Amino acid sequence: MKIGIIGTGNIGTGLVRTFTKAGHTVRVANSRGPETIQDLAAETGATAVTAAEAGQDVDVLITSIPLGKMPDLKPVIDQIPGHVVIVDTSNYYPFRDGQIEAIENGQPESAWVEEHIGRPVIRAWNALGVATLQNKGVPEGTPGRIAIPVSGDSPEAKRLISGLIDQTGFDVVDAGPIAESWRMQPGSPAYCTELTSEQLKKALELADPEKDELRRELALPIAATWNDMHHDDMVGLLRAIAQLPRLLDL
Ligand SMILES: NC(=O)c1ccc[n+]([C@@H]2O[C@H](COP(=O)([O-])OP(=O)(O)OC[C@H]3O[C@@H](n4cnc5c(N)ncnc54)[C@H](OP(=O)(O)O)[C@@H]3O)[C@@H](O)[C@H]2O)c1
Repeated sequence: MKIGIIGTGNIGTGLVRTFTKAGHTVRVANSRGPETIQDLAAETGATAVTAAEAGQDVDVLITSIPLGKMPDLKPVIDQIPGHVVIVDTSNYYPFRDGQIEAIENGQPESAWVEEHIGRPVIRAWNALGVATLQNKGVPEGTPGRIAIPVSGDSPEAKRLISGLIDQTGFDVVDAGPIAESWRMQPGSPAYCTELTSEQLKKALELADPEKDELRRELALPIAATWNDMHHDDMVGLLRAIAQLPRLLDL
């Protein structure tokens, strides 16, 4: 498959490495320009391009940039043929993205993204930490394989992206349409809690927009009190604040 990726941060870089290794043709861009992506291109065989070029001659474009910057991509996305599936990995963090009133008032994050880029998206790879993506993917059928949620309104596009998620080493749980994608937002029981498919289905049911927003705001300040931030402790914290050890018998 031909895949474009915009964003060479934690998640974008991880996806470039995974998809090139799986044999896909990858074009990758960031905000600073292709000359800043030469090392990653040399390492992986991906082609470093401008953001405008990342969406040309591809089947899928994955955007992996801060949510607050997504509206900047509208001119790029306006030029992309309609058959290209756009994937959104972004999450809303007010400390980084600024206060966004519509999301604060309950608009699902990916619905806000769709409105601001003018195209439907599939939301995927937003609800796993970078260390999970880099270190915990395993082949299909491995007992205890971690599952991640995927949301979107096109069953066909969701199927296509689910196949790619499988290649990154994770099971997939359909989290429903974009209108329901608040169930996989930061602070929700499904967010970065490293669950199996069956556990993740139950976690999505446990989502509660008001409580999840509070949990999102509490988790990072608690982790900031630690002497060092260890990924597994963060997963433990996110599970604990949603009471998953008891509710899911973890
Ligand atoms: N970190 C995680 O564990 C994690 C997990 C799941 C989802 N996410 C979400 O996924 C998204 C990316 O996260 P990250 O941690 O990978 O971010 P990051 O490390 O901060 O990297 C962000 C990337 O976005 C690029 N960028 C920003 N604005 C752009 C624009 N207008 N046009 C083109 N590129 C632009 C940046 O370009 P430059 O390199 O040129 O600055 C950078 O490469 C965020 O929304 C985040 O919330 C993160």
